[in-house]
Amino acid sequence: KPVVLSGCQPSGELTIGNYLGALKQWVNMQADHHCFYMLVNQHAITVRPEAEALRKATLDGLALYLACGVDPEQSTIFIQSHVPAHAQLSWVLNCYTQMGELNRMTQYKDKSQKSEANMNSGLFTYPVLMAADILLYRADRVPVGDDQKQHLELARDIATRFNNIYGDIFVVPDPHIPEHGARVMSLLEPTKKMSKSDSNPGNFIGLLEDPKKIAKKIKRAVTDSDEQARIYFDFDEKPGVSNLLSLLSCATDQSIEQLVPQYEDKMYGHLKGDVADAVVAMLEPIQEKFHQFRNDQTFLDKVMSEGAEQASERANKVLTSVYDAVGFIARP
Ligand code: AQP
Repeated sequence: KPVVLSGCQPSGELTIGNYLGALKQWVNMQADHHCFYMLVNQHAITVRPEAEALRKATLDGLALYLACGVDPEQSTIFIQSHVPAHAQLSWVLNCYTQMGELNRMTQYKDKSQKSEANMNSGLFTYPVLMAADILLYRADRVPVGDDQKQHLELARDIATRFNNIYGDIFVVPDPHIPEHGARVMSLLEPTKKMSKSDSNPGNFIGLLEDPKKIAKKIKRAVTDSDEQARIYFDFDEKPGVSNLLSLLSCATDQSIEQLVPQYEDKMYGHLKGDVADAVVAMLEPIQEKFHQFRNDQTFLDKVMSEGAEQASERANKVLTSVYDAVGFIARP
């Protein structure tokens, strides 16, 4: 079976962007792939969160993975910091990554503009740790939203460079970007992507949000102020309406082509009402299961410990060949 690896940062409550861009694909890939899904808490400290908030977001994230249908019987689920090989390989890869390459990463540019007060080197080398995450498992496919495409390209370049020097150590991974939901946009600023750490909560919908609050946020979502308030799909001209249509399409599994004619003579309010109902219906079973898993610490502990065990076993093999290749002598 092809190997799949992916993860989310516990940097806040996972959003419908994380669900549609990543988690939903993860679940669909479980049956015919060998999957590794992690919570990347080491990536999350690049913005230096409160320790307690990080602990909570990690356990919430784990329970959400399970609630969304990621199944520990089928997939390996683990916490990044439980597998030391990620940090270990990351150091080696740092020495095979050029400053210029990292300088070109758009996420780094965006994030450093937002947090001028905390421009730590972890933010800069974040894509190297991500490359280590992927390459450690010899993953063939990495399901990600559109926003992570550039980081994945870099992981491919690092893997290729390393292999050219040392032989066939890494598998060069392919991105797996979903056709729909690859880029869920912010509700109030529909030209930028929805992010869980957005300072304005009006911009995102968390997977655990109360249905009334979800409906309110969607009602306030920006629509486009052209002369005729027509509903059609065109991201350049009508980013707000197109984002709503795209959400409705993902949440109801209907194509945009099927949906648009249904709104020919309808007002924006009508569309928003339908989007809110569909998003709430999509999240209802997830929220219900979340609470069951979140309150069962014994089960969560079992998933984390078995996951770490399975992940370490695979990761350590690759780490050992890398250490050997670069000339680190084995511990006697
Ligand atoms: N808006 C989005 N639309 C589609 N997919 C998305 N993803 C994130 N936002 C969207 C996908 O979710 C996965 C996990 O992302 P992450 O937590 O590792 O980091 P991120 O991409 O930086 O996500 P956020 O929500 O924007 O987090 P913060 O605010 O902390 O930076 C990835 O596969 C990503 O593509």
